Amino acid sequence: MTIQTDFSLKKYNTFGIEAKARQFVAVHSTAELKIVLQQNQNEKKFILGGGSNMLLTQDINALVIHIDLKGRKVLKEDDDFVWVESMAGENWHEFVLWTIQQNFGGLENMSLIPGNVGTTPVQNIGAYGTEIKDTFVSCEAMNIATQDMKTFSKEECHFGYRESIFKHEAKDQFIITSVVFRLTKRNHKINTSYGDITKELEKQNVTTPTLKDVSNAVIAIRQSKLPDPKELGNSGSFFKNPIIPKVDYDKIHAHHPNMPHYVVSETQVKVPAGWLIEQAGFKGKRFGDAGIHKNQALVLVNYGNATGQEILAVSRDIQATILKEFGIAIEAEVNVI
Ligand code: EPU
Repeated sequence: MTIQTDFSLKKYNTFGIEAKARQFVAVHSTAELKIVLQQNQNEKKFILGGGSNMLLTQDINALVIHIDLKGRKVLKEDDDFVWVESMAGENWHEFVLWTIQQNFGGLENMSLIPGNVGTTPVQNIGAYGTEIKDTFVSCEAMNIATQDMKTFSKEECHFGYRESIFKHEAKDQFIITSVVFRLTKRNHKINTSYGDITKELEKQNVTTPTLKDVSNAVIAIRQSKLPDPKELGNSGSFFKNPIIPKVDYDKIHAHHPNMPHYVVSETQVKVPAGWLIEQAGFKGKRFGDAGIHKNQALVLVNYGNATGQEILAVSRDIQATILKEFGIAIEAEVNVI
């Protein structure tokens, strides 16, 4: 465990942005994490997981602690369910594939989401009709100031759409070290309600899908729409889908009858930001090395040497245009550092 200085973070963020950490250390156990925190009480710290949900717009003038805790195990099981624990540094997709191999159900719709297990509760990741809160039991976290461990139950996490306590009251106070999920062993709740999945399964002539079939369908959809960060730097959806008052939606809908939407409540409607961005003419556009992906306008991309500032400028241009054209304020989902 060595602390390095002026360390390039290019390989540690999926946008592939060149930015430096004043100091950098990777920890491989909770014991190591405790020592690093104890020995650097007065240092400014920055916690880095899989680097898949952040845009670096500047060097980080802090001690960057990369959480590289590995391991996964079955904690307990009954006839119907299994409780599985994964350490925070496990790659999310590899973990999902492992659960499917064991025939454990619940995570298959979230196949191929980039990032590590430890950051999944922070923004309650989700895709194709499922969110981690649906199978989440609890997570263990280390208090940065005291190094005490705390268990957060599902209720304590205050999960919402891409939201949790870790973005609010508990922000910058805890480091998630492991997460427990309760998965099905039988009577799997196969969820193909999301239109794209049904279409993909029909294309593959699958009528009674298994966990593996659903996972494969999700992988096929994601690969056709979303760029692979190893080939083209990106952070998945850059913006959240805005939730707007139904009265506002009705006004926009009158001009745009084809506008997709999801009813959230009697008074609120969620609108796909990707659709708004496409309507505003940004899809596939490129500004230097920063751009908007050609197959999914919600994803901003780095064609090679874009700086974080350049990508941020594109995102602000998009936000201002959407506000002007539709009167809707769209919010970044990615953490801008
Ligand atoms: N759409 C367009 N143009 C685009 C993109 C989308 O018109 O360029 C339309 C689509 O035709 C569709 C609707 O917008 O009618 C929704 O599109 P899609 O199914 O691709 O999903 P999304 O709402 O854009 C969300 C999540 C994704 C997740 C998908 C599938 C957010 C911010 N994003 O995207 O999550 O994979 O649903 O469940 O909620 C992520 O968070 O990084 C992420 C990739």
